[in-house]
Amino acid sequence: MKLPDEFSALHDRMTGWRRDLHAHPELGFEETRTAARVAELLESFGIEVHRGVGRTGVVGVLRAGSSERSIGLRADMDALPIAEANGFDHRSRHPGRMHACGHDGHTAMLLGAAQLLAQTRRFDGTVNFIFQPAEEGLGGARAMIDDGLFRRFPCWTIFGMHNRPGLPVGHFAVRSGAMMAGGAFFDIRVTGKGTHGARPEAGIDPVIVAAHIATALQTIVARNVAPLETAVLSITRIAAGDAYNVIPQTATLGGTVRAFSGAVMAQIDAAIRRVAAGVAAGLGASAEVDFRTLFAPTVNDPAEADFAAGVCAALVGADRVERNPPLIMASEDFSFMLEQVPGCYLNIGNGAGEGACEVHNPRYDFNDAALPLGAAFFVGAVQAKLVR
Ligand code: NI
Repeated sequence: MKLPDEFSALHDRMTGWRRDLHAHPELGFEETRTAARVAELLESFGIEVHRGVGRTGVVGVLRAGSSERSIGLRADMDALPIAEANGFDHRSRHPGRMHACGHDGHTAMLLGAAQLLAQTRRFDGTVNFIFQPAEEGLGGARAMIDDGLFRRFPCWTIFGMHNRPGLPVGHFAVRSGAMMAGGAFFDIRVTGKGTHGARPEAGIDPVIVAAHIATALQTIVARNVAPLETAVLSITRIAAGDAYNVIPQTATLGGTVRAFSGAVMAQIDAAIRRVAAGVAAGLGASAEVDFRTLFAPTVNDPAEADFAAGVCAALVGADRVERNPPLIMASEDFSFMLEQVPGCYLNIGNGAGEGACEVHNPRYDFNDAALPLGAAFFVGAVQAKLVR
């Protein structure tokens, strides 16, 4: 594997940007320094910059030639509320905050691609560089979409990537179709009728109703979801009552759902409402359900996944592109962008073997050796999609 020389020239610069971002991590929707740095660099490359898209998001627009075709390239910028345990020079300067998921690396790779594409302009069409805030469960992708991302910056297709510890540097993993789970949280509030603990006949016991609902909800994955689908429904909290001799007025249950298709998520949402309301009504109580989808399932368009795998294979060889990696139960909010625009999310190797620290660990660090590969993927995708 030998990348074109232009990427080795970029490597030092990307490493510098990456380590500066690593030293100054910012949480979701607080990425003001990061966004300012990204905007300033994009402008210095001669790219048109739009600040404040989805609060702290930044979009760079680069045009070449006259084609109407367009491509979106997305990186996330936020850090996590973790105290860094590393001692190297570029360790976090912000107590209790850390780039423990490699979003510093994702941002630096996309900046590198932006600089190279702005210098060379070997494409015909429009490239939208999307620097997204708040990926870590705070709704940054939705914020950008709600702020008109794809209306203001139309994209015919979109690509994003995440580093993967355990996958060697120089390798990529690309899956067609479902790749990462969607995730939802739910709360159920059961209302009965409070009474004395010794006089149940005078009230309606919400505790026993909650217990029946908890049991009945376990039939949804077992009996309603098709056996070949994958889903999890966990009740993770139940609360009711304050005293030994009082049957309370209300009880609450809460939990989480994970699934790999929007249809299954919607099926489970509807089933939770039906079961909770039905069980409660049967026992004389009522139940209110609040179901909140935090992440849609990440589903890659098959044609775009093939395209992305081809770009990777051209860079590193087909034997270093894993085409059928296992499904990932974690979630990713690029999923909401993939619901709007066909595209593909892929994994880039962050290193295997000893020292391949998992993301969200206080000793994690993005592997700078992966930077030119990530940038080369983005550049390759643009040149192949917007071919002159
Ligand atoms: Ni991440």
